[in-house]
Amino acid sequence: MPALPGRREAMAELERRLMNGDISLRTVTAQKGIVNVWQPSDLLTADMVGDVRAQMNKLSPQLLIVLVGDTLTEEGLPTYTSRIFQTEGLPTETGDPHSENRPLSQWIRQWTAEEARHGTLLDRLLFLSDRIDQRAREGSKQLLIEDGMDIGVQTDPYKGFYYTSFQERATQVSHMNVARRAEEQHAPLVAEICRTIAKDETAHGKIYSDFAQVMLQSDPNGMIKAIAEMMEHGVVMPAHNMREVRYRTGEVLAPGASYDAFSVHAQRVGVYTTQDYAEISGQLLKKWGIAERHTDGKWNALPVQGVNDDEAADAQKRIVRLQNIVQRRSDKWTPPADAPEHEFSWLVDRT
Ligand SMILES: [Fe+2]
Ligand SMILES: [Fe+2]
Repeated sequence: MPALPGRREAMAELERRLMNGDISLRTVTAQKGIVNVWQPSDLLTADMVGDVRAQMNKLSPQLLIVLVGDTLTEEGLPTYTSRIFQTEGLPTETGDPHSENRPLSQWIRQWTAEEARHGTLLDRLLFLSDRIDQRAREGSKQLLIEDGMDIGVQTDPYKGFYYTSFQERATQVSHMNVARRAEEQHAPLVAEICRTIAKDETAHGKIYSDFAQVMLQSDPNGMIKAIAEMMEHGVVMPAHNMREVRYRTGEVLAPGASYDAFSVHAQRVGVYTTQDYAEISGQLLKKWGIAERHTDGKWNALPVQGVNDDEAADAQKRIVRLQNIVQRRSDKWTPPADAPEHEFSWLVDRT
């Protein structure tokens, strides 16, 4: 694939700012240190097993489905790490024999290491539910990693950092909302687990949106065009191709059906909705100074320094138009009335 213009320079600029401390990687681990940062065994100790199992058995089937889907999303981590390492302009491309020690390479590994705790913790949590078919969700996990993902980013760092800025916020919102529902369903230990993971996602989201901001400052025209293309494509969840195995019949479902049904459940229980999508999208545009929402409820473009070609100016108009469309959808949104027909293999008890 030919090199995309501007990307190498923008990534070099990002690396410079990381090295001179203009951008800091304030992960939860960086703030607390490895001695104090949480590990899965802190939140789910051996003597808590009985209580957690009892709480897991109180959760509604819809919330369990959402938890399984969220867990799969975390467990797809090998795909995400390998995809991020393919990003154009990373130190690994420079031929530097010590590229592994450079800040961007270190960041990808630190991020992966923090994220790895999420899947581990949620896996242990789900293992304690008597109503989850463990083998079925493990089959889905294997397929998800095997399938990889197609999210419209390819190797472009501009699109990649837009996507990760969005996605980290989306997972933060989703884990926090699961925590709220779990509290309501008298499962405070489950809620605490989800809240703890959500805090990591918040920190990751801030870091990736700082990265995206550097891309915008370094190559305003290129970044604006990339954001417009990503918004047109739509930010799909990394596990949108998740599949299920029906072990009784040997059938493997085609991608799409499981995610669509999962998404309806998530909307119905208020875990990740059209309103969350519009809000995250708007927060990012506002944070980067691309658009803002006026008191009349409409989004308008803001002057972006350095946007000086017609294509980029047009891209910014498309961004604002799209944001107004998702905003209107969000303003009119009501939870889906009907539960999907879909029968998930992940649940033992399908009542
Ligand atoms: Fe995560
Ligand atoms: Fe994350």
